[in-house]
Amino acid sequence: MYEQIQQSVAFLKKVFQGQTPDAALVLGSGLGPLAEELENQIAVAFGDIPHFCCSTAPDHAGRLVLGQLAGKTILCMQGRLHGYEGYTPQGVSYPIPVLKALGAKAVILTNAAGGICTDFSAGDFMVIDDHINFTGKSPLTGTNDDKVGPRFPDMCHVYPKALRDIADEAAKQCGIPLHHGVYVGVNGPQYETAAEIRMFRAMGGDAVGMSTVFESIAASHCGLSVLAISMITNMAAGITGNALSDEEVKQMANERGQLFRTLIRQIITLL
Ligand code: HPA
Repeated sequence: MYEQIQQSVAFLKKVFQGQTPDAALVLGSGLGPLAEELENQIAVAFGDIPHFCCSTAPDHAGRLVLGQLAGKTILCMQGRLHGYEGYTPQGVSYPIPVLKALGAKAVILTNAAGGICTDFSAGDFMVIDDHINFTGKSPLTGTNDDKVGPRFPDMCHVYPKALRDIADEAAKQCGIPLHHGVYVGVNGPQYETAAEIRMFRAMGGDAVGMSTVFESIAASHCGLSVLAISMITNMAAGITGNALSDEEVKQMANERGQLFRTLIRQIITLL
């Protein structure tokens, strides 16, 4: 694992001409266009990077893009991989220790999620204070490479308060209301049943989505700080009585994408 990461890093250092990212950004639904806004950008397809899996999701471009945004050097993962596409948890989270080894001090993970907390509305944003991994899987299953991280990593400090405070400050400066809560990570691709959502609420979940937890676990393993933000694209199953649809999720992601990008840009300014 360590040797593979070193090979990916050596390749990317050449592509990025030795530039070191201040932070990395994993772009979820509605945020893809942010990569377009990077200045002096250098892009490489996942498929060209040694040991990276390629994204198949139609809306996910599957490229790493390095460039300047809000005065910082940012490495964007445009298009992420999901467990429901058939990738292993290891495949999904493989880029995370690579981002760390390239010099990123933190990774900002973004996603679309269903709102479980009834105080939320579709179109709101939520900082992930903590998560519940309900996928039943871990990217750390199998032999551990101690050069990457410990066999039994701590999961109490995955989302450092200092980064969450920066998100609050950025949201305040932009006049964007920002919730905090617990993200429940599920495998998908089916949306949840109403009973599952009632269970997640009873367990302490505030939002539910099909990404993020594998990347967060891998980041905790390799010692990379995470700031994770969800766009609540819809209220979760059973709350409004309406059937959930991908169209609804995509439409909201597009409608609120501009505001989400404003928030992320301001967070990067304050990093
Ligand atoms: N459930 C799971 N994943 C999601 C949802 C949802 O309601 N909305 C966006 N991603």
